[in-house]
Amino acid sequence: MHVNTPLKVHYYGSAVVLLGTRDEEGRPNVAPMSSAWWLGQSAMLGMGDRSQTARNMRAAREVTINLVPSGLADAVDRLADLTAADPVPEGKAAKGYRFEADKFGAAGLTEQAGELVGAPRVAECPIQLECRITAVHPFGKGCSAFEAEILRSHVDDSLLVPGTAYVDPLAWDPLVMKFCDYFGEARNLRESTLARNWRMPRGRLDRAA
Ligand SMILES: Cc1cc2nc3c(=O)[nH]c(=O)nc-3n(C[C@H](O)[C@H](O)[C@H](O)COP(=O)(O)O)c2cc1C
Repeated sequence: MHVNTPLKVHYYGSAVVLLGTRDEEGRPNVAPMSSAWWLGQSAMLGMGDRSQTARNMRAAREVTINLVPSGLADAVDRLADLTAADPVPEGKAAKGYRFEADKFGAAGLTEQAGELVGAPRVAECPIQLECRITAVHPFGKGCSAFEAEILRSHVDDSLLVPGTAYVDPLAWDPLVMKFCDYFGEARNLRESTLARNWRMPRGRLDRAA
């Protein structure tokens, strides 16, 4: 039986990426996001307008998209309540966000220079995509969809089907965010700061805790 209920959140499960950007003063930023989808050599990135990442993408028109393996769940969660926006936008502070100038350091991640863009890559991510922002569309309430054209892909060779330019789906284990919780190998991996701060009811996960 279907019940008619207005769902508060529609995060059904998507790969987590880390977006690398630089602000107008050249300061690096890294931010987790999971609203990315892909067609051909382009990605569409959904970001809240109050994030520093959105501001940086609008101004510099470039970004790196770093695909996160499930083993980096701890590093992603260390970024979950941080923003490089100073002051912290109203509303975000109430959700537990704090300003952090050095988000790479706070996450324990390593900045790696881009080859074609000024935006930093994340060395620990085995798939890194250097991109140019080609268009920005208003999306939903207070968000924008950024069209990113992939200019260069860097892939750890252990992920490739030998002798091809294809990723082996069994070698690649993405960190997946489902309803604000982290999954890899279809298992729940750890407690989620985002889920706690957003007061997400998590059904059987709450009962198992
Ligand atoms: C796993 C995960 C996924 C997220 N997905 C998104 C997303 O798709 N879009 C978005 O705007 N924010 C998303 N966020 C929240 C941003 O990371 C957050 O707003 C952060 O403060 C942005 O950092 P910045 O202000 O330094 O750019 C996500 C956070 C986590 C932990």
